[in-house]
Amino acid sequence: MTVHFIGAGPGAPDLLTLRGRDLIAASPVCLYAGSLVPEAVLAHCPPGARIVNTAPLELDGIMAEITAAHAAGQDVARLHSGDLSVWSAMGEQLRRLRAMDIPFTVTPGVPAFAAAAAALEAELTLPELAQSLVLTRTPGRASTMPPAESLANFARTGATLAIHLSIHNLGLVVADLSPAYGADCPAAVVWRASWPDQRIVRATLDTIEQAVAGTMERTALILVGRVLAAQDFAESSLYAPGYDRRFRPQDAASRFAGVSE
Ligand SMILES: C[S@@+](CC[C@H](N)C(=O)[O-])C[C@H]1O[C@@H](n2cnc3c(N)ncnc32)[C@H](O)[C@@H]1O
Repeated sequence: MTVHFIGAGPGAPDLLTLRGRDLIAASPVCLYAGSLVPEAVLAHCPPGARIVNTAPLELDGIMAEITAAHAAGQDVARLHSGDLSVWSAMGEQLRRLRAMDIPFTVTPGVPAFAAAAAALEAELTLPELAQSLVLTRTPGRASTMPPAESLANFARTGATLAIHLSIHNLGLVVADLSPAYGADCPAAVVWRASWPDQRIVRATLDTIEQAVAGTMERTALILVGRVLAAQDFAESSLYAPGYDRRFRPQDAASRFAGVSE
């Protein structure tokens, strides 16, 4: 018996890995975080599967489902939205499984920030403009932030920011970022990226609050950074004609000549 943690993606049921789909299809029990995981993904469960929405459960209740499946020798597909590496609450479940010696696997998923960037048709790292992407959030009712992880601190880097779980704090986001990024810095909100009713608002830090006008709740990602509207950025050296590299040695004298793999 194994518990398969599977990143269920941002919403579109076909933004799921083939491995994730196959594990769901092979598991007689499916526990899914129903607050964000689309029900369409559950169509991959085998006939007769026990399917449980864990949104109303406490951690003990989720573990009770897992231990019951363990006692019955049944594999469990455990679905969380997006990818499992950020804000999935997988860490605390793995800690308990390790303590109980229950085997598990982890299968990644398409994270919300990637789906939002795709919706915006944007590369979030561009030469000389931003070479880092910060995945962050603002404090919530259930989560405080480590003091050094303030938006103002991240803003000092000029990196592209993908701000999760914060649409209700949009005013605070604007206030914290404007001094460093400037009021004219491009900002966007993608609501329900990859869902059929996906919505996109593009603006600047100065205008984003008014543009959103309180019309988006919960499942929205705020993106901020110069990359969002840049047109005159430098091309990357990687594909520049004179750039000597392992996969494209410039001549026989290149240090990469003959070392192509
Ligand atoms: C609990 S976190 C889950 C993040 C997820 N594990 C991931 O990899 O993206 C939920 C937050 O992710 C963002 N989010 C998740 N799905 C989204 C989507 N389809 N469109 C926009 N934002 C989304 C929102 O900021 C939401 O408040």
